[in-house]
Amino acid sequence: MRLIVVSNREPYRVEPSRGKVRLEKTVGGLVSALEPVLREYGGTWVCWGRKGKGPEELRINDRFLVKFVPLTSGDVSGYYYGFSNETLWPLCHMFLTKTHFNSSFWTAYRRVNRKFAKAVAEVYVPGSKILVNDYHLALVPQLLRDAGISDPIYLFWHIPFPPYFMMRFLPSRREILEGMLGSDVIGFHTQHYVENFLECVREILGAFSDNNTVYWNGRRIEVRAVPIGIDVERWERLAKDPKAVRYANNLRKRMGVEFIGVGVDRLDYTKGLEEKFRGIGRFFEKYPSFRGRVSFVQIAAPTRTKLEEYIDIKRRTDEIVGMIEGRFGEPGWVPIYYYYKNYPDERLVSLYMMADFALVTPIIDGLNLVSKEYVISKTDEDGVLIVSEFAGVSLQLREGAIIVNPFDEDEVAEAIYMALKMKRSERRERMRAMRIVVREKDIRWWVKEFLKDVSA
Ligand code: UDP
Ligand code: G6P
Repeated sequence: MRLIVVSNREPYRVEPSRGKVRLEKTVGGLVSALEPVLREYGGTWVCWGRKGKGPEELRINDRFLVKFVPLTSGDVSGYYYGFSNETLWPLCHMFLTKTHFNSSFWTAYRRVNRKFAKAVAEVYVPGSKILVNDYHLALVPQLLRDAGISDPIYLFWHIPFPPYFMMRFLPSRREILEGMLGSDVIGFHTQHYVENFLECVREILGAFSDNNTVYWNGRRIEVRAVPIGIDVERWERLAKDPKAVRYANNLRKRMGVEFIGVGVDRLDYTKGLEEKFRGIGRFFEKYPSFRGRVSFVQIAAPTRTKLEEYIDIKRRTDEIVGMIEGRFGEPGWVPIYYYYKNYPDERLVSLYMMADFALVTPIIDGLNLVSKEYVISKTDEDGVLIVSEFAGVSLQLREGAIIVNPFDEDEVAEAIYMALKMKRSERRERMRAMRIVVREKDIRWWVKEFLKDVSA
């Protein structure tokens, strides 16, 4: 398979380190999922490159090349911050009041999608499979078709796809859907998002659909529900590394409490961090005997930090953590350890391993890979996953996870209590059930299922 992956986000940040350069994986589900694919199968990854800074390409090894599309500061503000993250991101996550409609964003979005399509056409060789990713590049599939590319084009949408009643607010809804339908195969994490998409193409374009197939402009487009997976082998290897085990044990000892919970999120308003902390506060209120005995570690990775909404969520999260510390904390006990920084996988694995439970409470999330990473890092099969019913992953892990509505702080508090009181045998049974799913539906499975050939 000759693969061309196209995404806005670059897989690595190049960091200078003692006269050499070090590649640091960037943060986010898309890169976490696809980076192992390119490492294993090889290919070219076309992505955003900063203008005037850095090289035009980066050779990772003789089979894996990263090609940068240079963007101007005007491109970045209109296309990335603007249309992608102030229009499509909130709209797809059902935050209508945070959705900004601005025609200059749309102009920049179209311009940058053309730049990406041109860059792909330049590296394209017949016989390739082209995998376009996410909401930043919805117009690229049709632009590639227009450029005469006849090889299969796959588009994977890593975030939720909204129902018609949300999509209809978008002035450029037709163009977005037409752009997507330039693909041969379109993928989503859940059948629910597939149905939303089919409803949109029927209602907005008047396209015909039958089961998961759309008929449009004399072409046939398959729509597949294939939840993405993680590189299970790699996470298991990380979890077995003696250094990681030592770090987890030492940290646990240093924290000096009976129980530890963990959360790992980008600091995004969709991730429900405020709701999570309110639930934790409610737990300490309802169950005072656990004060001093449970601590929670939250990684909040900085993201899209120039946008007002993200500055705001940072301020609100800081405030609520402060309130909980102030109200419940005591000398010698910290209820919430909160870190506003990025952590590499080698550190995250230890946090996952030492935690008795993980608390994943997005208000809405396309899938959520952190849940899968937590489950697979628990090689001792002991640990409890508490997950929001509005994260796509809750459908896959419902046999083993405690499912909560993040808006219900009592339910979150009860879930934490249940996790702490759960018998070892039940914890193991639930964790085993989840580990089977995560292991079976890993990233290799996703490549086979989603990138399989178009049916005749
Ligand atoms: N992540 C990371 N370092 C951090 C925080 C998160 O590498 O400090 C990774 C995390 O391991 C996961 C991804 O970022 O692989 C987040 O993916 P998820 O699907 O949970 O959410 P997204 O950020 O894509 O919305
Ligand atoms: C989500 C999106 C990705 C994006 C990631 C991080 O996972 O689906 O496309 O890369 O968030 O966001 P950022 O804006 O930093 O790329």
